[in-house]
Amino acid sequence: MFRLVQTLNFKANLFPIWFMRQAGRYLPEFRKMRLQKKNFLDLCLDSKISNEITLQPIKRFNLDAVIIFSDILIIPNSLGQKVYYIENVGPILEPFQKKNLLKISEYHKFIRKNSEVYNQIKIVKKKIKRKNLIGFAGAPWTLAVYMLNRKSPNNNFKAKSLNITNKLINLLTDFVTLHIEKQIESGAEVIQIFDSWAGLIKKNQLYKFCYYPTKAILNSVKRKFPNIPIICFPRGIGKEYKNFVNFVKPDCISIDQFINPSWAIANFNGTPIQGGIDPTVFCREKKCVKNITYKFLNIFKDYPYIFNLGHGIMPDAKIENIMHMVEIVKENRL
Ligand code: CP3
Repeated sequence: MFRLVQTLNFKANLFPIWFMRQAGRYLPEFRKMRLQKKNFLDLCLDSKISNEITLQPIKRFNLDAVIIFSDILIIPNSLGQKVYYIENVGPILEPFQKKNLLKISEYHKFIRKNSEVYNQIKIVKKKIKRKNLIGFAGAPWTLAVYMLNRKSPNNNFKAKSLNITNKLINLLTDFVTLHIEKQIESGAEVIQIFDSWAGLIKKNQLYKFCYYPTKAILNSVKRKFPNIPIICFPRGIGKEYKNFVNFVKPDCISIDQFINPSWAIANFNGTPIQGGIDPTVFCREKKCVKNITYKFLNIFKDYPYIFNLGHGIMPDAKIENIMHMVEIVKENRL
């Protein structure tokens, strides 16, 4: 089990615990901070505010890892396609125009536009010494889906009609790599790549749109920073998770709630696993939280595992339920 600590560099001994979207609307202190800026990305691009938001869930729950407060859509926004967030709707992107996007030769402009994200990491790093600091980025496919669809995909989404080109995937691969490297240079110790809409890719196109670009990012980052663990989250690809793990070889694989954790243990060749807990559990009764926490403690008792959900914390999650899970996990480790 200690291999997890070594490979992932996590500073907790057993069963590290943190949550995707741990800083978010379910927290009253976040809702209060949110009022400081009209547009959501302006919160992310003000390191004085964003570093405080990053630390809110740590102060409340004493989690083991700190994920920086930012958003995957910061990349399209800084490439020149503006992103707005509308309450109860989600992100809306302005029309996609290839000619308006930065080219990789203009990387210095991209770095300048995101300098507040990198500043935030430096500030958090000084404030928090004994916890892992996680930086992140969206995967090229998921970013391309947002850029061409201009909002989150819905049920009748047709990937084909978007005409996602290799050229766009390659451009995004370069900028995602750059964004990750800048975060590591600023102090990020672990990286997570979110491919939230990988589940929309046709089976015969998974290599082209998901595995190859992700592998290219891993290879580049590993060449410069061989000791920084990378967690991958190709959400929604079902049984194809097995091929993903075999081909991409991430340091840790984050599973969604539709993956059977015992199947994952049997098929992932010892690759550390993260997540998989149904996020709706935090909206239910306390005893459901207890049951699922013990279920995961038991399933993963002999396998490197990071406690987390199968997706982000929901806005109507109950704070006392989150506290309950953290307490049970901490009581049961060592
Ligand atoms: O996890 C964390 O606490 C770190 C911060 C973080 C946010 N977004 C903050 C946020 C991270 C890691 C993300 C990743 C992200 N953003 C993803 C990948 C993970 C996933 O959920 O699949 C995606 C697809 C996005 C794009 C995005 N940003 C959407 C679809 C939305 C609206 C939906 C929603 O849940 O509100 C956002 C807004 C957003 N990003 C909020 C937060 C806290 C809510 C902001 C608000 O409404 O005030």
